[in-house]
Amino acid sequence: MSVKIAVVGATGVVGETIVRVLRERGFAGDLGLFASRTRENVRATSDEALKPYDAVFFAGTEDASEKYAPAILQRGGIVIDNSSTFRMDADVPLVVPEVNAHAMRPEDRLFPVGNCTAIILCVALAPVRDAAGLRSVQVATYQAVSGAGRAALEEFDRNEGNVVRNVVPHIGTFGDDGSTGEERKVREETRKVLELPDLPVDVTSVRVPVRTAHSEAVFFETERAATVEALAAAFEKAPGIVFHRKGIVTPRDVEGTDEVHVARLRPSGEKRFQMWIVGDQLRKGAATNGVQILEKALALRSVSA
Ligand SMILES: NC(=O)c1ccc[n+]([C@@H]2O[C@H](COP(=O)([O-])OP(=O)(O)OC[C@H]3O[C@@H](n4cnc5c(N)ncnc54)[C@H](OP(=O)(O)O)[C@@H]3O)[C@@H](O)[C@H]2O)c1
Repeated sequence: MSVKIAVVGATGVVGETIVRVLRERGFAGDLGLFASRTRENVRATSDEALKPYDAVFFAGTEDASEKYAPAILQRGGIVIDNSSTFRMDADVPLVVPEVNAHAMRPEDRLFPVGNCTAIILCVALAPVRDAAGLRSVQVATYQAVSGAGRAALEEFDRNEGNVVRNVVPHIGTFGDDGSTGEERKVREETRKVLELPDLPVDVTSVRVPVRTAHSEAVFFETERAATVEALAAAFEKAPGIVFHRKGIVTPRDVEGTDEVHVARLRPSGEKRFQMWIVGDQLRKGAATNGVQILEKALALRSVSA
């Protein structure tokens, strides 16, 4: 049976990437394309219009999934949601397939896709956790403009907005503790995906004048003594990672690819290390991660049927 798939938010930067990744990975049938209003090839979103679909990707605002997901789940459909609405719900798995695919149960229907910066970070930290344990993580991010959506990207392309000739350490809303919403999401979601609920994770998130792909300078402490060679070997056999023993990697190098690139791994002490990681946040940080989840959910469903 072929699966009928819809994408809500199909005119946005994540939505268009979801459509591209679905096609690349062999989902060949008609896709339902939805946005806030109707225009050529795209329809306005409503409960009624989404009824024929077995699986619905949300790449719209937070309220879109909050409003439309319940009816889809009620009739047994699959929801894959790029917003943060359901990510931290205790009963809902937050899945990065290379890291915690085991968290998906055959009965699950609702799959949030994690924060893009957190996904890239978790792919890179999982081999460290498995090889030597993780005691703490500090990360400074260098986040692309497309992370703020199509309008921000178009503004940047017109050479307008506060990130032109600038870097801006403010992504999301400031909370009482001085952290931003983005920084809180990265901390909490990293703990959930890595299944290390007490892991200290300190984050400073910065918008930089780059179109696509997020970079992160990551400083971590392991539980057990480790060597660069042992960690390098772990990265080289980890799924979804390209490990660079030498040289650097930049956002322009990884745009349009699905792997997380790890470079500049070096020691700061017996249990302390630094690395530089880069990933295309529209693909692995959003669309590809979501499509991988759909593939796994369909496989689980056919096994349990
Ligand atoms: N950009 C990233 O790197 C990234 C990464 C991970 C997760 N996310 C998340 O993914 C989601 C989409 O982000 P984006 O960057 O792709 O945004 P975007 O480029 O601004 O696109 C937003 C899309 O949502 C649609 N939309 C807005 N309100 C809607 C409504 N009430 N009902 C149905 N559709 C609606 C828009 O349609 P119209 O064209 O009709 O306005 C547009 O297609 C957000 O939750 C974001 O936090 C983004």
